[in-house]
Amino acid sequence: MNILAIDTSCDETSAAVTKNNKILSNIVWSQASQHAKFGGVVPSLARRKHIEKIDFIVKKALSKSGININKIDAIAVTAGPGLAIALEVGINKAKELSIKFKKPLIAVNHIEGHLLSPFANTPPIKSSVFKRKYNISLIVSGGHTEVVEMSGIGKYKIIAQTVDDALGECLDKGARMLGLGYPGGAVLEKMAKNGDKNRFLLPTPLAGQENRLIFSYSGLKTALYRSLDKEINDKGSLSKKRMQDVCASYQNAAFRHIIRILKHIFDNPDHKYTYLLIGGGVGANVELRKRIRKLCKQYKITPLFPYSKKLYGDNAAMIGVAAYYKTQREGFDNKMAKIDRNPNLKIDE
Ligand code: KG4
Ligand code: ZN
Repeated sequence: MNILAIDTSCDETSAAVTKNNKILSNIVWSQASQHAKFGGVVPSLARRKHIEKIDFIVKKALSKSGININKIDAIAVTAGPGLAIALEVGINKAKELSIKFKKPLIAVNHIEGHLLSPFANTPPIKSSVFKRKYNISLIVSGGHTEVVEMSGIGKYKIIAQTVDDALGECLDKGARMLGLGYPGGAVLEKMAKNGDKNRFLLPTPLAGQENRLIFSYSGLKTALYRSLDKEINDKGSLSKKRMQDVCASYQNAAFRHIIRILKHIFDNPDHKYTYLLIGGGVGANVELRKRIRKLCKQYKITPLFPYSKKLYGDNAAMIGVAAYYKTQREGFDNKMAKIDRNPNLKIDE
């Protein structure tokens, strides 16, 4: 099945063509540099930039895939979660193309896209994955930090989520505090690589309270602020080495929180997971993946990561792949009027 997929949920304008779970093209135009001077995503600017670029990006996705629009079987679009006025741009474009070329529409949950991203370009869903009753997924993005239990495609239950900031948001806010620009996760990772993660004592969020199954990142941000304040008062400014140490310590505390919650979940004898799927922008972080691999090895769980770095961040190919699996499950839901933006869409609704 050939799917033309569109995602405009945040600050990436993206379109892709997928054939079942294979990616034929995946065009991502990041607006990040446009938002950087504001220190975060400005919804009205995101919308304007999506409107400016969407036609070009869709055209490019089609031409790169070598598939003519007449050979497209369905159009998939992110319906939420995301920024309402940004989502609307992709939805309107998908509806317009659906009417013009008489193609069915598929509304996709952006988080399900991240969740299923490890299945892109793999042999048609490793059947063994879903022979197991339960698998588990970790989604770590700029807007979400969730552990989701899955008993099949479309059968999801959130078992842990953040009560305040998401992991990516925590890294971005920390990086901004350190003057590293926006978005900061990748820059922070680079700095952290050469730093001493034990140099600054930053608390692991909710240490000892893992049984609550919640993530919380707002306290870590405050701890960083205090630590910086003290360091700058004592030393005047941060040397490069100190900066690297701060980044490593901050990233370490943020990741420790994730690993401790996962460990708590894996320790529960009722949870016999075979696979851990990983999706979302922060998954691109090499150190985080290393720690996840190590933890999984301890528990004999197989981690499944997306095959390419481009699939971690926001992209339309994961929406096309999720749409394919969705239609396998429930066929086409061709009631276009029903497809509306849903900025707060949950994965287990
Ligand atoms: O999945 P994503 O592209 O967008 C959302 O759906 O939110 O995730 C974006 C987040 C940002 O917070 C960004 O800083 C973070 O992913 N990120 C990283 C890395 N690359 C992107 N965080 C840590 N290390 C990275 N290499
Ligand atoms: Zn995302």
